[in-house]
Amino acid sequence: MADTDTSPFYITTAINYPNGRPHIGHAYEGIAADVIARFQRLRGRKVRFQTGTDEHGLKMARKAEEQGRTPRELADEMSGYFHEMDKKLNISFDRFIRTVEPDHHRASQAIWERMEAAGDLYLDRYEGWYSIRDEAYYDESELKESEGGEKLSPQDTPVEWTVEESWFFRLSKYQQPLLELLKTPGFLEPVSRRNEMIAFVEGGLRDLSVSRTSFDWGVKVPGSDNHVMYVWVDALTNYLTGLGFPDETPEMAEFWPASLHLIGKDIVRFHTIYWPAFLMSVKLPVPKAVFGHGFLLNRGQKESKSIGNVTDPLTLADEYGVDNLRYFLIREVAFGQDGSYSPETIVNRANAELANSFGNLAQRTLSMIVKNMDGVLKAFEPAEADAALLQTVRNACSIDLPREFESLAFSVGIEAWIKAVYACNQYVDEQAPWGLKKTDPDRMAVVLQTLFLTLRDLAIAIQPVVPEKSAMLLDQLGIPESDRSFAALDDSDWYPRLVESGFILTKPSPIFPRLDLPEETDA
Ligand code: MF3
Repeated sequence: MADTDTSPFYITTAINYPNGRPHIGHAYEGIAADVIARFQRLRGRKVRFQTGTDEHGLKMARKAEEQGRTPRELADEMSGYFHEMDKKLNISFDRFIRTVEPDHHRASQAIWERMEAAGDLYLDRYEGWYSIRDEAYYDESELKESEGGEKLSPQDTPVEWTVEESWFFRLSKYQQPLLELLKTPGFLEPVSRRNEMIAFVEGGLRDLSVSRTSFDWGVKVPGSDNHVMYVWVDALTNYLTGLGFPDETPEMAEFWPASLHLIGKDIVRFHTIYWPAFLMSVKLPVPKAVFGHGFLLNRGQKESKSIGNVTDPLTLADEYGVDNLRYFLIREVAFGQDGSYSPETIVNRANAELANSFGNLAQRTLSMIVKNMDGVLKAFEPAEADAALLQTVRNACSIDLPREFESLAFSVGIEAWIKAVYACNQYVDEQAPWGLKKTDPDRMAVVLQTLFLTLRDLAIAIQPVVPEKSAMLLDQLGIPESDRSFAALDDSDWYPRLVESGFILTKPSPIFPRLDLPEETDA
């Protein structure tokens, strides 16, 4: 194994604003986090995985008002769709948090009280720019102008001039420790995001407005009933709520600081500057790592209602299959960079690699074992070519893929895996086991059983990406649940155990059927 760290692992996604239905970007982040969570579990680590919805703030309040309903009604409905999407996509979270939940209000008020006790909060007046879409304050110097002369945030969203009484957090006090943190190797990745954050801090940090008085959809500020917390203060606290904060729970002891906050590249500032500063203020350790992934584009374009190219991830999952969609997203996009998708690219990737290569390898191998050997496996002695293939596959599955997944280079890891699949298919062609049935049935049995062994390794390694399909294959191969971890790859007794158990392979049904392009591809 590339890495032998077996400490507990806490991974989170950003929690999503449920002001509308989930789109493909939400699915992408959830799937990526799930791949990491499943990978770490299979590596033998105790994993805690949290996701959820971020339900307070002006954006939610305004959207509800537009629709003539309460923010809570909007949140309940839309949060339900996020939850449903996660279930459908096999996102294996331990908790789906909603920030309207009572324990979250309690945790947010506790962190507030501790920041206040640390002397880091004071009452003043905020006068400045605010973007509701980003739920972010911006300095005049950060703004750009639209063609029509309107002020826009750095993310191209509209900003409003805001004047109100507000509590402030002494962000400026944390300038030095934040700079050191940002320069810590491994804290913020990809590295390309680091310089921008360092420049922002070096430019001088102004204290942060952390409460609002012009609306009341949020967590009440303790002792200041006309204030609700700035939505990001409560949102970020969700990472602690889920562990039982402010109580000193076993989960807090085991899983804090978080191992990894997985987020989109547009909210790196909140996670690597504001959040660590809050934590420093309340004397809790800062997260070990933050990773800002890229955006997914639809045929190279950002999805938006005005372009009319917004795709429902559930429709994609129904059309192409959950595991095909997961495989595509994780395989196609270099993690950290922006990626692009289209029906053709999903179908082509799934057909070329899963259906025609891996699926076909499994289907023809298992069918031949059933047909020509009555599904009965025996102990055997691999010859040179067989041993070489077994080694190639083992290296890809137990060294290369895990090493790359550990550093979140998923597509590189899968590349190593698919090359091992190709090597198996090439071996099948060279050995031509179908021709050996009459001439040399013993040799045929060795070839087919060698392939059986490779299928098991390949299926184990790809579990984090295609959990449902790999489970089907491992069931078919007779591998018990307890023998499916990465450590099991190096257990040399599994095959003799399987043979001795009297396992008999039954007629396989194809696990990765070929996909057709949908008739209408109106994206
Ligand atoms: N709701 C925010 C967004 O979609 C993300 C909040 S993540 C957390 O941009 F840090 F607040 F948890």
